[in-house]
Amino acid sequence: MNHKLALASGNQHKIIELATLLSPLGWDVSSPKDLGVLDFDPEENGVSFEENAHIKSQALFEITGLPSLADDSGLVVEALNGEPGIYSARYGGKALNDRDRAELVLEKMSNISNRNAYFICVLSFRDPTGIYSFEGIVNGKIGSNYQEGNGFGYDPIFFHPGLNRYFSEISSEEKNKISHRGIALQKFLTFIQNRDKT
Ligand code: IMP
Repeated sequence: MNHKLALASGNQHKIIELATLLSPLGWDVSSPKDLGVLDFDPEENGVSFEENAHIKSQALFEITGLPSLADDSGLVVEALNGEPGIYSARYGGKALNDRDRAELVLEKMSNISNRNAYFICVLSFRDPTGIYSFEGIVNGKIGSNYQEGNGFGYDPIFFHPGLNRYFSEISSEEKNKISHRGIALQKFLTFIQNRDKT
């Protein structure tokens, strides 16, 4: 079956990651821009990843009437009491870029031996039947340095012990198989596939 899906994100990296996974499965994926929604930027004032994801899927659903999928994600560092957490995209203030933010985390972690961290992604799906959420987590460590390469955001400082590499050192295909976003997406796909059967 072909599904139409609006992706409630302005983040080009995330749109590409999600569209790459969904398009081969017969999904007709559109970004807000594709749908003529040029200023899609709902206020993310929730207190959790799930609340923020729901705010975004609900907002795009109200505008377009299409089944809408939103992602809220971030990096959670144990020794920093969960920071950057839901503030991952704006950690340290709006003047910083992705690299500055990652380096800020490294700086705060400079004398800390507990390097445990995880990426979390909550996908929120809103359609006429209701609103649903799907969570994915990938555990890792904050590395010792900024490792240039692929990916975006905090990938260059996120070390995956199982792969023995930073997320910036793996391909997007490898990342999709194990990442927080990949895991949440698999849960979403299982939900849709089971629902289509009934
Ligand atoms: P939001 O979900 O758009 O509010 O922002 C999530 C932020 O978390 C992004 O801007 C990134 O900084 C970070 N983030 C989320 N997922 C990833 C990832 O897969 N790799 C690196 N950083 C990520």
